[in-house]
Amino acid sequence: IKLFLDTANVEEIRDAYSLGVISGVTTNPSLIALEGRDFVQVVREIASIVDGPISAEAVSLEAAPMIEEARQLSSIHPNIVVKIPMTAEGLKAVKELSSQGIKTNVTLIFSANQALLAALAGASYVSPFVGRLDDIGYNGMQLIEEIMAIFNQYGLIAEVIAASVRHPMHVIDAAKSGADIATIPYKVLYQMIKHPLTDSGIERFLKDWEKVPVK
Ligand code: E4P
Repeated sequence: IKLFLDTANVEEIRDAYSLGVISGVTTNPSLIALEGRDFVQVVREIASIVDGPISAEAVSLEAAPMIEEARQLSSIHPNIVVKIPMTAEGLKAVKELSSQGIKTNVTLIFSANQALLAALAGASYVSPFVGRLDDIGYNGMQLIEEIMAIFNQYGLIAEVIAASVRHPMHVIDAAKSGADIATIPYKVLYQMIKHPLTDSGIERFLKDWEKVPVK
């Protein structure tokens, strides 16, 4: 599994990327809005930090303006992947963009059928939202498992991004399900790093180290 960071915060991205475990970034309009900064500027800065796929979302609802937005976004940097919402218009845009060599990440996926259609239309990535399904009493991880079974059965090449990750167990389960990528909030990355036994272990080593005579 690869890990992407799910944020538009440049400081978080800089810090997380320096850990050597992050290979891409996903943003969405809500994450961009949290920053209160110019969209293109933020995307440009992210691209200057991370050498890997960076998802930036189109907000048009019709295929033609979506395609136009996608062209503009992808002209910012070669690593830009355009996020397209999972709608009929979105599928039309994905088909056209993939024929033009522009990478897409089909977002807001909540069923295996949606993932299948996105992959058939030519998406480079599909993003099933695990946490939002859990929130309404469905099993988000089961969806990842279904999608992986279908994609593996037919050799579909779209990469599956477990998105809407809320806690470290989501990451473990996504990895066990064979998801290609989990995109995780900064907070979850630090929750994955931390363990109380590591902290108390360091504390004990340092205390014992004080007893070592200095010659
Ligand atoms: C990923 O591509 C999405 O932007 C993100 O994971 C959504 O997460 P949320 O459901 O916590 O908003």
